[in-house]
Amino acid sequence: MLLMTQEFARAVELLQAGELVAFPTETVYGLGADAANPQAVAKIFAAKGRPADHPLIVHLPGAAFLDRWARDIPAVAWELAEAFWPGPLTLILKRAPEVPYAVTGGQETVGVRVPAHPVALDLLRAYAQAGGGRNGMCGIAAPSANRFGRISPTDAAHVQEELGNSVALILDGGPCLVGIESTIIDLSRGDELPPRLLRPGHFTPEQIAMVIGILPELPEVRSGGNEPRVSGSLDAHYAPLTPMRLVATAQLPEVISEVRKAGRRCGLLVRTRQTLSVLPHSQRQLPDHPEGYARGLYAALRQLDQAGNDVIVVEDIPADSSWGAVADRLRRAACGSGSA
Ligand code: TXA
Ligand code: MG
Repeated sequence: MLLMTQEFARAVELLQAGELVAFPTETVYGLGADAANPQAVAKIFAAKGRPADHPLIVHLPGAAFLDRWARDIPAVAWELAEAFWPGPLTLILKRAPEVPYAVTGGQETVGVRVPAHPVALDLLRAYAQAGGGRNGMCGIAAPSANRFGRISPTDAAHVQEELGNSVALILDGGPCLVGIESTIIDLSRGDELPPRLLRPGHFTPEQIAMVIGILPELPEVRSGGNEPRVSGSLDAHYAPLTPMRLVATAQLPEVISEVRKAGRRCGLLVRTRQTLSVLPHSQRQLPDHPEGYARGLYAALRQLDQAGNDVIVVEDIPADSSWGAVADRLRRAACGSGSA
């Protein structure tokens, strides 16, 4: 989608002035501000209702800007940047002294990525050309453009719903093609410790290993059906307001009829064709492969969440590692759901 030059000019002007601009990335829409300006960054936290000790990802126009933001950059960081940028990979590195603590959540590390969406890249480049914000740092801090803990927006209309009143401008770049947030790799622990996967995403640990020759340390994985696979911060993230349950394919008919018998409205999200004798109130089907599923996931959850259901039943996904990122988001969503 082509954006008008005036819209970019206005976006750059707002960012330079310390205001918020929402923009599309290939993963999800981001809520952007000058990452080198603590007052601008504070507006992000206020708009999202997000605790100020949560670090933000800094978006850069290219890998050439990396050393303004990070120091002691290991060789593997350059290798990953070369292989995957622009793209949905965030690197956690030691912060350069100029990086405000407002953006790192008070930590000594910083998260950086170069997004692949043409609108995001054009915006970052135009911003850099216009001076690149405070101290000419050329970084745009952007978390997902949703209220804290809620479903990430993958469409400009979602951003309008979530934050319409608190953002000066929303750049519309159409629906996001990846659909779930970037893979995050921690490279800040020095040479002795291996890179660590902090958030699974479109790029898999295996793809990363192909580039750097070592499999990143994975979050602790527990085995089995509906058990959370990622231990630690299974907090209310990516979550619908409606309670959500992951259910094995074979159990779907029984669970749906139980919900209906109890007089409750049932939403259903499937990836395979179902022949059900008792029908849910609303149903969405996503493609039965990880990329297609991820692309449609948040929009589908948002629709089922808004359809007045009492419960959202989600057909469980294969245990295969190619579904890892989707599994992570579904389990987090199920865990945080119904908490309004
Ligand atoms: O795909 C994405 O990454 C999207 C788009 C907009 O780029 N952004 C995104 O931002 O998902 P957000 O704020 O919703 O999630 C950022 C994640 C958080 O889990 C945060 O804890 C982690 O990145 N993060 C950022 N900086 C970090 C740091 N220095 N150390 C550890 N984790 C960090
Ligand atoms: Mg988020």
